[in-house]
Amino acid sequence: MSVIAARLAKIKPSPTLAVTAKAAELKAAGRDIIGLGAGEPDFDTPDNVKKAAIEAIERGETKYTAVAGTPALRKAMAAKFKRENGLDYTLDQITVGCGGKQVIYNALMATLNAGDEVLIPAPYWVSYPDMVLLAEGKPVIAACREADAFKLTPEGLEKALTKKTKWLILNSPNNPSGEGYTRAELRALASVLLKHPDVYVLTDDIYEHLVYDGFEFSTLAQAEPKLYERTLTVNGVAKAYAMTGWRVGYAGGPKDIVGAMNKIQSQSTTHTSSISQAAAVEALSGPQDFIAERNAVFRERRDMVVKLLNEVAGLTCRTPVGAFYVYPCCKGAIGKKTPGGQTLKTDGDYVAYLLEAANVAAVQGEAFGLSPYFRISYATSTDALREACARIKRATEALT
Ligand SMILES: Cc1ncc(COP(=O)(O)O)c(C=O)c1O
Repeated sequence: MSVIAARLAKIKPSPTLAVTAKAAELKAAGRDIIGLGAGEPDFDTPDNVKKAAIEAIERGETKYTAVAGTPALRKAMAAKFKRENGLDYTLDQITVGCGGKQVIYNALMATLNAGDEVLIPAPYWVSYPDMVLLAEGKPVIAACREADAFKLTPEGLEKALTKKTKWLILNSPNNPSGEGYTRAELRALASVLLKHPDVYVLTDDIYEHLVYDGFEFSTLAQAEPKLYERTLTVNGVAKAYAMTGWRVGYAGGPKDIVGAMNKIQSQSTTHTSSISQAAAVEALSGPQDFIAERNAVFRERRDMVVKLLNEVAGLTCRTPVGAFYVYPCCKGAIGKKTPGGQTLKTDGDYVAYLLEAANVAAVQGEAFGLSPYFRISYATSTDALREACARIKRATEALT
């Protein structure tokens, strides 16, 4: 009998973290790898945020905090929800966890009974289905079309909802597609959800601030206040404030769900680091102008990558509105032969070929539930991106 629990057989380790680890391993072995797999900004955490953390240490804020997060941090979050999203949450409606990841995990563990369905539009963030499985729920995948900008349509939603649907997970801007829902699109989805009063919605807004070309971010509970009572609005400081390693995510939502999430957290991690919480107060309450400056850089890189990829015979790439990913279609490479004589059958094969032949690490669309695509993170230097695209072009055009 295995020492490992049977439930582990249902899930896989995060494929994006696996690509990052593999790229690091090959680099350490001396290969000139360009890693485009990581989901984190290459910018540093702003100085004022670091300073707030140092001052918290010096003040002795090094002890346990409330499970839900310090009152100071939850106040800063309540103010942020009000200021940026027009949402009113009291402090007992807000919970802080070790990253958006733990917050989502807590929410699913706190609410799913065996067999409850969670509707996940694809392409999706790799962790959603596995977290649902760990919580004994059933992920139901609704494939979205590139022609719909990889977004769930009201018809697609209506079709995928069943009596067992407990949650819909909406992620905008989306990882991996970079696409975002407009307020009008959210309202159209809401009109379907209003007909299904037992369905809750988890909105993952972690890329809220990374939007370009004047795209106006909107979140569901704001777009349709009638859904406020059954929406959990998830966010985090990792992406906008370049704080991936600090591990601070949060959610605002119904008191009973938030209370249940806190109960789970009280028996697992207790809370995220007291120092990180102090840093997050400064991130959310301090100057925000650096976000626009960094976004200007992200947008330039996005435009360059999209242009260069569209120059590759066999690839096509949309220009997404946000996050720091593009999700090019590699249909033109599938079915072709590598110079070594291997036929590429899947986007997984294609990405493995890019790593082998071009020393470029990207993530296969299979991992995000929609093929034949692959994800490139453009949160890396402009020079590295330019070189990576040149390598992708050479390798892809060497296919026959
Ligand atoms: C869509 C999405 N949600 C949540 C997370 C979790 O972020 P963190 O746990 O670092 O706050 C990520 C990170 O990659 C993400 O891409």
